[in-house]
Amino acid sequence: MSDDTVHGLDVTAIRKDFPILDQLQDGKRLVFLDSAASSQRPNQVIAAMDDLYHHSYANVHRGVYQMAERATNAYESARRRVARFIQAPSESEVVFTKNGTEAINLVSNSWGRANLKPGDAIVLTMLEHHANIVPWQMLAAELDLEVRWIPVTDDGRLDLTELDRRMDGAKLLAFTAMSNVTGALSPGDQLVAAARSAGAVTVVDACQWVPHLPIDVSALGADFVAFTGHKMLGPTGIGVLWGREALLDAMPPFLGGGGMILNVTTEGFVTDGLPGKFEAGTPPIAEAVGLGAAVDYLETLGMEAVRRHEVELTAYALRKLTEDLGDVITIHGPAEPATRGGVLSIELEGVHAHDVSQVLDTDAICIRPGHHCAKPLMRHLGVAATARASFYVYNDTSDVDALAAALIKARDFFAI
Ligand code: ALA
Repeated sequence: MSDDTVHGLDVTAIRKDFPILDQLQDGKRLVFLDSAASSQRPNQVIAAMDDLYHHSYANVHRGVYQMAERATNAYESARRRVARFIQAPSESEVVFTKNGTEAINLVSNSWGRANLKPGDAIVLTMLEHHANIVPWQMLAAELDLEVRWIPVTDDGRLDLTELDRRMDGAKLLAFTAMSNVTGALSPGDQLVAAARSAGAVTVVDACQWVPHLPIDVSALGADFVAFTGHKMLGPTGIGVLWGREALLDAMPPFLGGGGMILNVTTEGFVTDGLPGKFEAGTPPIAEAVGLGAAVDYLETLGMEAVRRHEVELTAYALRKLTEDLGDVITIHGPAEPATRGGVLSIELEGVHAHDVSQVLDTDAICIRPGHHCAKPLMRHLGVAATARASFYVYNDTSDVDALAAALIKARDFFAI
């Protein structure tokens, strides 16, 4: 049994499914460690989209010719598969959007405007990506809402010591399931329970969770869960909003246009039922088909195995980088691999993250430097930028070894 299969995933076999990884950059094997920004996609996803465009493409929910029906079936089959993947009670609760950001904007614009009024309090966390901050700040400015913040511990986790006080009287809690900077996993059960007892609605940014850990939206008990296709082996241009049927039913539409109505007259319009009410205009058809194929791929690997693999790889990386780079490296986030995802935000003492990234690129190693669209968190951590390496199903210990060797090179190059 190879080292990889001990982790539950046969990474050598998985890599063969990802044509983009089979390339040399300046004669060196490409080491892709930027999946938290956007993952790569397997042949199975590319083939599913290619097949649709070659044989079955037409607009959906419109034409009655055979090819249009095949396209509609493919689109709706993707929705069914996504619903099953997240264990949604009903596929009508799965709304396709453009991305995770649009899914959150849908909630803030539709649920928010219909249910919040001046003076109401909403609660955000300092771990959030801008996608789960700015839509709420826009709404807060418009409706004159009070915005409260859940702080973060020094090791980049949510500090829930005063959770009940912060939730007291609040109407909404928006939190990330997993930080895209520190990798910290949020205690969803505790957060949802606190929101429930305060009578607040919960909005979960699960963009970093759904690709990497099993999820059961019913068991989680949240009201809305947003995620995106391109971080979970699917294409760009498609995201998902899952919401409780009763809430979605009662909400006004977000975008208006074709596809989301039952009837339009000169006097007004009647909206379609779920989920069509929230899918105005021609939807991302091929992208949905690609996402359905990505879900199939992940289910074949098994999400428990994906998670196990990433915990073991993260544990290996934390050990290896600390051993090799000692006190010139800081890796933000919780020390315990079981409490975090495979995201390592690295600071190399005295070297800017962009310089680290450029040196790594000379060894064909792809990471993301910068603020990771989480500026309030970065300010709390006291850093302007980190060099972030993130793992997925196609990474193994050889990628971590390459990262460690290249960081040593960067350290020596900049003569720390
Ligand atoms: N949200 C993406 C990231 O963390 C883009 O890099």
